[in-house]
Amino acid sequence: MKHDTAFIRSIAAKVGTPFWLYDAGVIRQRIADIQFMSSAPNVQARFAMKACPATKVLREMAAAGIWIDAVSGNEALRALRAGHAPGNTPPVVCFTADVFRDNALDVVLKNGLLPNIGSPGMVQQLRAAGYTGPVSLRVNPGFGHGHVNTCDTGGPSSKHGIWHQRIITARDAAVSAGMRVVMLHSHIGSGPKHQELHDNLDRLATEFAEMVPLFPDVEAVSLGGGIPHNYRDPAAQIAIEPLRDLFTRCQQRISAAAKRTIRLEIEPGRYYVAPGCTLITQVHDIKETSTNEKGAGATFAMVDAGFVDLVRPAMYGSYHRIEILDSTAEPEPIVLAGPLCESGDVFTRGGADEELQPRMLPRPKVGDLVAIYDAGAYGAAMSSNYNSIGRAPQVWVEPDGTCELISRRETLDDLLKAETSERL
Ligand SMILES: Cc1ncc(COP(=O)(O)O)c(C=O)c1O
Repeated sequence: MKHDTAFIRSIAAKVGTPFWLYDAGVIRQRIADIQFMSSAPNVQARFAMKACPATKVLREMAAAGIWIDAVSGNEALRALRAGHAPGNTPPVVCFTADVFRDNALDVVLKNGLLPNIGSPGMVQQLRAAGYTGPVSLRVNPGFGHGHVNTCDTGGPSSKHGIWHQRIITARDAAVSAGMRVVMLHSHIGSGPKHQELHDNLDRLATEFAEMVPLFPDVEAVSLGGGIPHNYRDPAAQIAIEPLRDLFTRCQQRISAAAKRTIRLEIEPGRYYVAPGCTLITQVHDIKETSTNEKGAGATFAMVDAGFVDLVRPAMYGSYHRIEILDSTAEPEPIVLAGPLCESGDVFTRGGADEELQPRMLPRPKVGDLVAIYDAGAYGAAMSSNYNSIGRAPQVWVEPDGTCELISRRETLDDLLKAETSERL
C-alpha cells in the first residue's frame, strides 16, 4: 500500500522511526477475499493469529465472523480478550501446538478450547489433566511445501503434526482416554506456486476423504493456512474464485465420504495481513566498501530498522519491496542495513546462501524515509528485544486518514519489568 510521504512524515514526527503503518482498508479487503473463498455452506475460515496478533486486527476478525487458530496459551488469551468466544460449541478459538508450554494446557482447560494435538504424547498429557472433552488431531500428511524449506509443514522433515500412518494409533489413544476426535487438521504451507498449492490441497482433501469414515465423531476437517501473498509483484496475487470452488468441492467430497455434513475449515495467516502493513524507517547514513580480493564493494544505506523489527529477510532471505520515499535519484545497487550488532542485519538478502543482494534503488540521502512493504505478516509478530531495543510502535490508519497509535514504542522499563532478584 502506498501512502503520501507528507502524511507518513507527520506520523514519524509524532512516534519516531522505525514504526509499523497499518492500513485498515487493505486488511478489510483481504478479510473480504477470505470471506468470499469460504462463502459456501459449511466452510469456515479462521485467522492463524501468529501472523499478526494485534488486538486491533483480532477485533476486525471477530467482527467479520472469522474464527481463530492460536498456538500458545497467551495467543488464545489475547484472542479471548479481543472478543472471540471461549468454549468449543462452536470451537471459535482452536489451540494448535506440538507442545503444551507455559500456561497452554491450563488455558485450554479453563476456557474449554478445542485442543488440536500435534504430538501423540499430548493425548496423555490431556488425560493426566483429567480432560475428557473433544479433540482435534493434526496430521502430517507426508507432503507439503513451505514458502522456504525451513517453513515446510508437511513431510518427513517436518516437526509438525502426527505422521499420517500413526494417526489411527493416536485416535485409539484419545478414544480410550474418553476424548472424542471431532476434527482432523493439516497445514501444508504456502508454497510459491499456485498450481502446486491447488494440487496439494486437493491431495489433502483426498487423504481426508479416505480418513473420515474411520473417525465417526469427526465434525470438521481443516486444510490449514498457506494461501500465498506475492511479495514481489503486488499485481499478481492468487485468484480467489478457483480457491472458493476448490474449498466448496473439498467440503462436498469429504462430506460425501463421511456420509454426513462435515465442516471444512481453512486458517490462513499471512494472506489477511501481509500487504496491510509497511515498516517505515529512516536513513541515518550512507557508506561504502571497496572491492578487494574478498569480494565486491557495496553501498550501504544505514537505516534505523533492523531484524529486531522485521526478521524475515535475515531469517529466510525473504524478499520485501523497498522504496526510498520521494527520491528521484537514478537507481543504483544499494544494500539496506540496520543498526544491530550482527552482520546479518541486512534487508536486501537472498539467493541460495542468503548473501547480500544489493537492490536497484535511488541513492538515498540522510533523513530520507524508507518504506519496507508487505510487512504485516510475521512482521511485528516476530519482532524482538535483541540488543535491548524496544519494539517499534504500531500505527493504524483508517481509510479516511484517521490514525491511532495501537502500541507505543517499548521503553527500558518495559524490557526490565520481568527481571527479578527473587530467591528460589
Ligand atoms: C497450523 C498452521 N496454520 C496456519 C498457518 C498460517 O500459515 P500462513 O500464514 O502461511 O497462511 C501456519 C503457519 O505456520 C500453521 O502452522
